[in-house]
Amino acid sequence: MKKRVLKAGVVGWPIEHSLSPYVHGFWLNEHSINGEYIARAVRPEDLAGFLRELVEKDWCGINITLPHKNRAFEIVDELDEGARHIGAVNTVIVTDNGALKGINTDGYGFLKNLEDHCPDLRLSEGSAVVLGAGGAARAILFSLLDSGVSEIKLVNRNKSKAEKLAFEFDGPISVYDWSHRSEILTEVNLLINTTSLGMTGQSSLKIDLSKLPVRAVVNDIVYTPIETELLSRAKKRGNIVVDGLGMLLHQAVPGFSAWFDVDPKVTPSLRHHILEKMKN
Ligand code: ATR
Repeated sequence: MKKRVLKAGVVGWPIEHSLSPYVHGFWLNEHSINGEYIARAVRPEDLAGFLRELVEKDWCGINITLPHKNRAFEIVDELDEGARHIGAVNTVIVTDNGALKGINTDGYGFLKNLEDHCPDLRLSEGSAVVLGAGGAARAILFSLLDSGVSEIKLVNRNKSKAEKLAFEFDGPISVYDWSHRSEILTEVNLLINTTSLGMTGQSSLKIDLSKLPVRAVVNDIVYTPIETELLSRAKKRGNIVVDGLGMLLHQAVPGFSAWFDVDPKVTPSLRHHILEKMKN
């Protein structure tokens, strides 16, 4: 009898720029799995039908990327706690009884990336500054609060969006004006950029780091370029810096292990493989 080929993938609109096929393809090959990871471009209005068909077509599940994460949240049959809090789904698992289970692994990826690069960082012993209040910030706030961070200073250009987010999460979050982003850096042990500023083709992130303690860790979730101007300035003054590629790699782990029943590792060779693909 022919052995079942395990099928998973990623859906977005557009999808050409997704790095996920390279990440999962690397692991499928590394673990010699009889499986496929397929990228599909699906229009927003076709997403519900497409996700329903996954069950009929015997897929194990799928990653959800822009612009579908919020819509997928509404479509799936079950949600895990993270997805429920974040209000978005980035990974769907087809369960044994044919239900679509939505999870959100972005916050998990963020934390694992930090742990990987700075295992000594104690989130409960200091405050964190989060720049931005979009979808990525939501996932990051959830995981920071979940890991017992003592204080979060949230700053966004559109302040009312940050206030709404702080209200929803109901944790130790204080909201500041965007114009105060440089002066609130005193006594902070983690600075995270979740905005698109500094990304190739976008405006640069203007922030004065002189008040930031040198012991603070600086994390940019932007990974094009790998070393953003924020990270390069922080590194020059002695801060530990963590780039955004690790978050992308780590967020892929829970989906892969649910679909293919193997716990994949984020290794230097995976990172090297993806960096090579990014050059093309
Ligand atoms: P993502 O899902 O990646 O978080 P998003 O939801 O579009 O993307 O959020 C983008 C973030 O970058 C927002 O916090 C946005 O600020 P606003 O809420 O004020 O729009 C921030 N951002 C984008 N361009 C910016 C700019 N020129 N200056 C300051 N913040 C900016």
